[in-house]
Amino acid sequence: MKIAIVYASNTKNTEMIAKAIQEELNDEEIVYFGKPASEIREADVYIIGSWTDKGNAYHTILDFIQTLRNKKIAYFGTAGYGKDEKYYQTLFSRVKEHIDGSNQILGYFFCQGKMPLSVKDRYVQMMREHPDDAKLKVSIENFDEALEHPNDDDLKHAKEWITSIINKN
Ligand SMILES: Cc1cc2nc3c(=O)[nH]c(=O)nc-3n(C[C@H](O)[C@H](O)[C@H](O)COP(=O)(O)O)c2cc1C
Repeated sequence: MKIAIVYASNTKNTEMIAKAIQEELNDEEIVYFGKPASEIREADVYIIGSWTDKGNAYHTILDFIQTLRNKKIAYFGTAGYGKDEKYYQTLFSRVKEHIDGSNQILGYFFCQGKMPLSVKDRYVQMMREHPDDAKLKVSIENFDEALEHPNDDDLKHAKEWITSIINKN
């Protein structure tokens, strides 16, 4: 089975997951590992990953994923907001809209990924202006929680996820 791992990662969180998956699949034939590019070799399974950019996958990934036909696709993502399976479901449903119906979707995996400090600075600034804003407080807590991710458990879960998918297919 030929496998391509195609991902977009700005600050390396998603790349950490991509590398864990690559490491886990070292007995398989990985024909491509990297960002979307014209020289991606034909594969049977495409394991596609992205960071979350304003509620969806990064545009280079959406552009790439919508070119695929008659392939098996597994999707992984990192997102600043975490610990909520429903949120991840919603994120994947948006990615799914870009996947042609001729493909077979094998599954998806998400975990939380740390965000740039500038994001917290902005929240803190807003908090000064609106000290009683409960939503902002939750956002700051979430930011701090995200700083730990992806952690060893996330990498382990990503590996378990991909192993179960590849074994079934
Ligand atoms: C411009 C920008 C937009 C983002 N939009 C979202 C978003 O809508 N939802 C979310 O959960 N995280 C969002 N994030 C957080 C990133 O998706 C998250 O930190 C991710 O792990 C970054 O992955 P990377 O290190 O592979 O680039 C955003 C980050 C940036 C910089």
